[in-house]
Amino acid sequence: MVPVKKMQTIDPEKLAELLRRHQPAVALTGAGISVESGIPDFRSRGGLWERFDPMEYATIQAFRRHPAKVWTMLREMDALLVQARPNPAHLALAALEAAGLLAGVITQNVDNLHQAAGSRKVVEYHGNAHRFVCLACGRLTPREGLDFASGPPSCDCGGLIKPDVVFFGEPIPPAAQKEALDLASSCALMLVIGTSAEVAPASYLPFTAKDHGALIVESNLETTNLSRRLTDYFLSGPAGRQWPRVVKKVLDEADAHGPADRA
Ligand code: APR
Repeated sequence: MVPVKKMQTIDPEKLAELLRRHQPAVALTGAGISVESGIPDFRSRGGLWERFDPMEYATIQAFRRHPAKVWTMLREMDALLVQARPNPAHLALAALEAAGLLAGVITQNVDNLHQAAGSRKVVEYHGNAHRFVCLACGRLTPREGLDFASGPPSCDCGGLIKPDVVFFGEPIPPAAQKEALDLASSCALMLVIGTSAEVAPASYLPFTAKDHGALIVESNLETTNLSRRLTDYFLSGPAGRQWPRVVKKVLDEADAHGPADRA
């Protein structure tokens, strides 16, 4: 029987104090942080997997077998990605990094919005959908040179081109895996923002952080399977509303008391 943890709710202002006292801090983000940028998440009501069965559209086997079919979903996702802009939650994490209070963001998202918001240390755990790669020769192709409209794009070598993202059944890029493990095992505080924590191996990272003594803060609209087992503090509410409040308090405090304590 897994012991049920006593998770406490926390408000943005109290979280700001926790953040100043527990450094270095690292963020692990999921699709929920980009919902307020107009990109649906996967498992909430109305999410992507309600309309596209991931077993038919999101495995590398499905892509190899039915590229044209999978590209119908990829084209729809791409249209959302190209018009998406960072929301206040992405901007807040970039501000925390600039203030020296966030060592990095490990993101499961492929929308490039953390980078667009100004975050510099971003681990693209599931790749980046703004890059395109040939399955046969591995060459990266810029979006500009691709014509999605007339079916699945192919490389000059004849290979299939896909977004440079990790499909189910593909490994996490080794460099990203190493960077993520380094961050998770050396942080004093992990901010788990907008993820259902359902998908491994990303969902193991909070456990790695906890094993190394970190506090776990979850920021979500609903509790997850982490909440009762691992989470120390829960920040409830839309990330785009709550995280600017954390940053405001942190910056007000910095003005009042000087730089954060190092762990
Ligand atoms: N603010 C905070 N949390 C939110 C918001 C919001 N505005 N909107 C939704 N959420 C929460 C949802 O409650 C849910 O717990 O974000 C979480 C999103 O969970 P998923 O849709 O499962 O997305 P994610 O956890 O990122 O999925 C992980 O699964 O399908 C694969 O590769 C895909 O990277 C993805 C991985």
